[in-house]
Amino acid sequence: MDSKAKAMKAAGENVVGFGAGEPDFPTPVHIVDAAIEACRDPKNHRYSPAGGLPELKQAIADKTKRDSGYAVEAAQVLVTNGGKHAVYTAFAALCDPGDEVLLPAPYWTTYPESITLAGGVPVVIETGDETGFKVTVDQLEAARTERTKVLLFVSPDNPSGAVYTPAEVAAIGEWAVEHGVWVVTDEIYEHLTYGAHEFASMPTLVPDLAEQCLVVNGVAKTYAMTGWRVGWMIGPTDVVKASSNFQSHATSNVANVSQRAALAAVAGPLDDVVMMREAFTRRGTTMHGMLNDIDGVTCIEPQGAFYCFPNMSGLLGRDIGGSVAATTLELADLVLDQAKVAFVPGEAFGAPGYARFSFALGDADLEEGIRRLAELVG
Ligand SMILES: Cc1ncc(COP(=O)(O)O)c(C=O)c1O
Repeated sequence: MDSKAKAMKAAGENVVGFGAGEPDFPTPVHIVDAAIEACRDPKNHRYSPAGGLPELKQAIADKTKRDSGYAVEAAQVLVTNGGKHAVYTAFAALCDPGDEVLLPAPYWTTYPESITLAGGVPVVIETGDETGFKVTVDQLEAARTERTKVLLFVSPDNPSGAVYTPAEVAAIGEWAVEHGVWVVTDEIYEHLTYGAHEFASMPTLVPDLAEQCLVVNGVAKTYAMTGWRVGWMIGPTDVVKASSNFQSHATSNVANVSQRAALAAVAGPLDDVVMMREAFTRRGTTMHGMLNDIDGVTCIEPQGAFYCFPNMSGLLGRDIGGSVAATTLELADLVLDQAKVAFVPGEAFGAPGYARFSFALGDADLEEGIRRLAELVG
């Protein structure tokens, strides 16, 4: 869908794209300035420690204590080539062939691929809008077997926008401790929550989990730095050391200039993300309201990240501009052709019947795109 939408745009068609998984804001100026300065310093023109610049590792440890209350040491931090690389590294470190990883759906498309690349077996646990797309301890327990090694947990969630309450996070963490299940917890959207919904870090709420928990995070979403490629993994020192050795042979250090930019980001203020959060709150509210006004579409409130994840099943089997879609995959294709609106069908996230609409785009485009969808299917 994405490449088709891009090809249509390149051909001059006026496509409104809701596929973006990145903030539409530029990286804050003080971060860019730090990178420019770093470019001019010859020490950044050389190899540096594979696991990350020591100053950055310390700043990430400090920032983790500041933002989520989780006290860790620099030796527990591995700097990676984006959060995605941290996800891959986490599963590569933990999974032996055949180990099962519990994966609540809808899931970010990279998770099952990373698990499989590491030799693990994704065990998908379905959730739906009736439970706010949140997995329960009962579901986890029902899916647990002798081979269960890891649970993938993410809140705020991509694609559903769900944010678990502190009580829900704690209950899942306690279940993991009780059964010796590792948790890979992805905190990349920690600062993007809306209204009364707040991020809660699992190892902070359940300190006993620390020895069986890997935290994944990065600068991409909080500081509008998707292209800079800096993320990190936090975990027990032995896992981090082994992962650092692995990284030294796979990729060596993350680009020094990007690491210096990330240092300015994590050691600096959170003012820019406050501004982004305001814009995303406004856009999420608009999108949520407009989607629910469409007959055949129902959408729960986005609580975090920057996605609405509406249930589109009411549009399936219906005559839309002379065509009928049987699946959300077909619907996405039809809407792109007829209304020039691109969204990601739920099939991509293991959740057919739903669709992901990013609200990381300008207000006018957002309204225009949903209006076009409403006119087409109305
Ligand atoms: C849930 C989640 N985790 C991790 C990432 C990785 O981000 P990056 O590799 O750009 O740091 C993304 C990006 O879309 C994401 O949505």
